[in-house]
Amino acid sequence: MSKPRVFVTRLLPEGGMQRIHQVCEAEVWPEELPPAYEVLLQKVRGAAGLVSLLTDRIDSGLMDAAGGTLKVISQMAVGYDNIDVAAATARGIPVGNTPGVLTETTADFAFALLMSAARRVVEGERYVKAGAWKTWGPTLLMGYDVHGATLGLVGFGRIGQAMARRAAGFRMQVLYHDPAADPGVAKQLGAHSRSLEQLLAESDFVSLHVPLTPETHHLIGEPQLRQMKPSAILINTARGPVVDPRALYHALHQRTIAAAALDVTDPEPIQPDDPLLSLENCLILPHIASSSHATRTRMATMAADNLAAGLRGERLPNCVNPEVYR
Ligand code: DGY
Repeated sequence: MSKPRVFVTRLLPEGGMQRIHQVCEAEVWPEELPPAYEVLLQKVRGAAGLVSLLTDRIDSGLMDAAGGTLKVISQMAVGYDNIDVAAATARGIPVGNTPGVLTETTADFAFALLMSAARRVVEGERYVKAGAWKTWGPTLLMGYDVHGATLGLVGFGRIGQAMARRAAGFRMQVLYHDPAADPGVAKQLGAHSRSLEQLLAESDFVSLHVPLTPETHHLIGEPQLRQMKPSAILINTARGPVVDPRALYHALHQRTIAAAALDVTDPEPIQPDDPLLSLENCLILPHIASSSHATRTRMATMAADNLAAGLRGERLPNCVNPEVYR
């Protein structure tokens, strides 16, 4: 019996690719850049499965272009704001994602950004390599202490909680804003609930850990940045559009906040002439918070497992729209 046909929108880490090739006839997009939407429309035609990344727009038009054959969409990411999940559900197509495995790796990186921005690590390195280091200076590259500071977590899900665990080692006071948080878990982690306004006003570091939804789009805009301390540092490892980039530029440029460290931008990739790139007090990384060898491999194998289950008509191990099974 011939294997089902699947389109994979990029070459995944080896462990995931091996599993995918075992269960299907996979066509893998070989380029570094994602396939254009028009290419996706062609590639998905007649496919039983689609393995996607957060760079692919997966909408109702694409699902219909498959021609009714699509049994599963498996995304190698925990976030799935690029997928019209309601459209998939309406067509009975389960959508898989890769939660859990990237929690600690992403929190490691968010904390690395926090420390780098606070202690001006990247600026210091540039300074040395530019040959500017002439002597030990009494006020050279002064930053902000991390130990004992107040960390405000906007979103207290898996990654927010992992941040709280790290913060305990630095004797930080931890605040969170998340109406859906479990107060019992927060209590165990020594984290205190605040309204968003209170959290912004009290925190030395504000770290974002919310999914991108219509409600969180530009959650941090001009009014919110104005509520932050002039010494505060904003960290975003969630999704770029959670922050209004123009408002952030003005806040950083006018130093109404001290610094920002962004692993995600709006748009992605950030355009080379984006004014945020001109700022010394804005650290920008290319959406790599989950990118450790182990974690990206585990994400790929989870995506392969979701794909395999979907192709067999079984429940996906990690399904974002379980209502398709009702
Ligand atoms: C995700 O999985 O949603 C991250 O943004 C990329 O690892």
